[in-house]
Amino acid sequence: MNNSPGMVNAEQMANMLMSSPAMNMIMDRTKKMMWSMVEYKDLQMVYTCAIKEIETKLEILSTEFNLKHKRNPISSIKSRLKRTESIAEKLAKNNHPFTIESIEKNVRDVAGIRVICNYIDDIYSIADALLGQDDVRLIEKKDYISSPKENGYRSLHLIVSIPVFLAKSRKEVMVEVQIRTIAMDFWASLEHQIKYKKDIPDEEEILRQLKACADVIAATDNHMLSIRERIESAEDVPTEDDILIDRLRKLDMPIN
Ligand code: GTP
Ligand code: MG
Repeated sequence: MNNSPGMVNAEQMANMLMSSPAMNMIMDRTKKMMWSMVEYKDLQMVYTCAIKEIETKLEILSTEFNLKHKRNPISSIKSRLKRTESIAEKLAKNNHPFTIESIEKNVRDVAGIRVICNYIDDIYSIADALLGQDDVRLIEKKDYISSPKENGYRSLHLIVSIPVFLAKSRKEVMVEVQIRTIAMDFWASLEHQIKYKKDIPDEEEILRQLKACADVIAATDNHMLSIRERIESAEDVPTEDDILIDRLRKLDMPIN
């Protein structure tokens, strides 16, 4: 279509804009933003790999326990990558910028793993087995079991750093590992619900009851452990032959 005199068509307009300094600036900013998006995706990939690594370490421990021992301290493992919205919220709350460097430095739970154990002593066995590995570096340990939170929350929290090996680089990545019993997990999931609910009637009373439940749960966890220990101490100490027979019975057991 011909233009009226003095009028420009869309293509001419685009060409003019492309060659103008203003458009160059817009294009530069857009490209910069797009590069940031690509880098953010790379960061998510690295954290996902770190989760895979810690999960594999825990699965290996579980496999070994299944084969060599009568019981497995790990009941289940869950993991999650922190959602972008939650990362942004955490950074904003502490007045940190939303940049790759800031996320790596200030958000220690982008990669999160939760290990659920049967008994309280299993929690410490798993923590020791993980921290004993020479590529796992302990950054911080919070023992909310020996010192529970005021609301009754109990768990062992570890922030660890592990190396992730990529095709051309190696990166140290932080992972939050929460280790707790089935009972502690049951309590924490109910208590977590209340944080996201607004206008709960009788909130104070509910929180008081939750705290009471946490105390009952802690007493039950301790009681269950002491019963297990009494059963174990009543059992005869296995001889080398007993251990061999036990291991032979498992020879054809699938390894998983
Ligand atoms: P966040 O900013 O929440 O990550 O806390 P923090 O950096 O002080 O670390 P902390 O080790 O205290 O808590 C880390 C995580 O443990 C939380 O993100 C929750 O998943 C869990 N957690 C801590 N306290 C509680 C609690 O009172 N109730 C429940 N349900 N979960 C908790
Ligand atoms: Mg957190």
